[in-house]
Amino acid sequence: MKTDAAGPASWLDQVHCEDALQGLSRIPDGSIDLILTDPPYNLGKDYGNASDQQSVEEYLAWTERWIDAALPKLKANGSLYIFLTWRFSPEIFVMLKKRMTMMNEIIWDRRVPSMGGSVRSFSSVHDTIGFFVRRKDYYFDLDAVRIPYDAATKKARSRSIFVGAKWLEMGYNPKDLWSVSRLHKEHSERVDHPTQKPLEIIERMIKASCPPDGVVLDLFMGSGTTAVAARRSGRHFVGFELNAEYCRVTAERLAALAHGVVPEPKPKTKAASKVKARKADTTETILE
Ligand SMILES: C[S@@+](CC[C@H](N)C(=O)[O-])C[C@H]1O[C@@H](n2cnc3c(N)ncnc32)[C@H](O)[C@@H]1O
Repeated sequence: MKTDAAGPASWLDQVHCEDALQGLSRIPDGSIDLILTDPPYNLGKDYGNASDQQSVEEYLAWTERWIDAALPKLKANGSLYIFLTWRFSPEIFVMLKKRMTMMNEIIWDRRVPSMGGSVRSFSSVHDTIGFFVRRKDYYFDLDAVRIPYDAATKKARSRSIFVGAKWLEMGYNPKDLWSVSRLHKEHSERVDHPTQKPLEIIERMIKASCPPDGVVLDLFMGSGTTAVAARRSGRHFVGFELNAEYCRVTAERLAALAHGVVPEPKPKTKAASKVKARKADTTETILE
């Protein structure tokens, strides 16, 4: 059991339904292995609060405030992943690069199907994820997230020179372009949150960058994906969410997990083929 000076850590394994900046003060410095967070992108979405509807100046100043409040919580060998879009990733990456070392810009291709939409620019179909660390000896377990080679690749590499090749058995590095469908109602893990992230992505980050039994902090839990992914991966979590309804959804997801209800990672093929193109493209969202 994780403890702090006062005994078993009372702040741990909970999503606190409160403002992250307020709640962070209860988390001891140097207690977090991984900050994995998906803040409002400031694209005007309605989360039941004004967090995604700030002026550019307010949004960037607020972002800098929570970054400065969160980073001291990280262990020296800890890491940070942040979801963003191209709209503000340049400014926010610069803020983070002044404080940490940038290891990757990961592109999440949301597999948005071809559709109408933008006519004066190219349709935006990806989110931008920054991966940052504090020190050279940061925790990183590539083997935990390698992708197995498919049968065709293995067959193509069946010549004698490849027999017993360790890399062929271990699988490959997921690289920095992650093509994972955004969640549709046909996905069994989908709940009622407008920007819920897929477990597949969050679990990859956790397995690679948080040791087993370590602690993941998500300042903006939304529907609790980070909490669910942490628990499924044998890690602890702590986080915050302003909207009480999303806190309730998170509690439900964690309870379902405790009762052994495991969401299927992929939609059933038939249902998936029925998925209709929906207007969730960030470019269209903001220009409409
Ligand atoms: C992009 S969503 C996170 C979605 C989440 N990754 C998921 O998979 O469901 C951002 C969330 O941050 C919450 N939020 C905004 N400002 C906040 C604050 N100051 N403290 C805590 N939560 C906040 C919003 O209500 C929203 O649910």
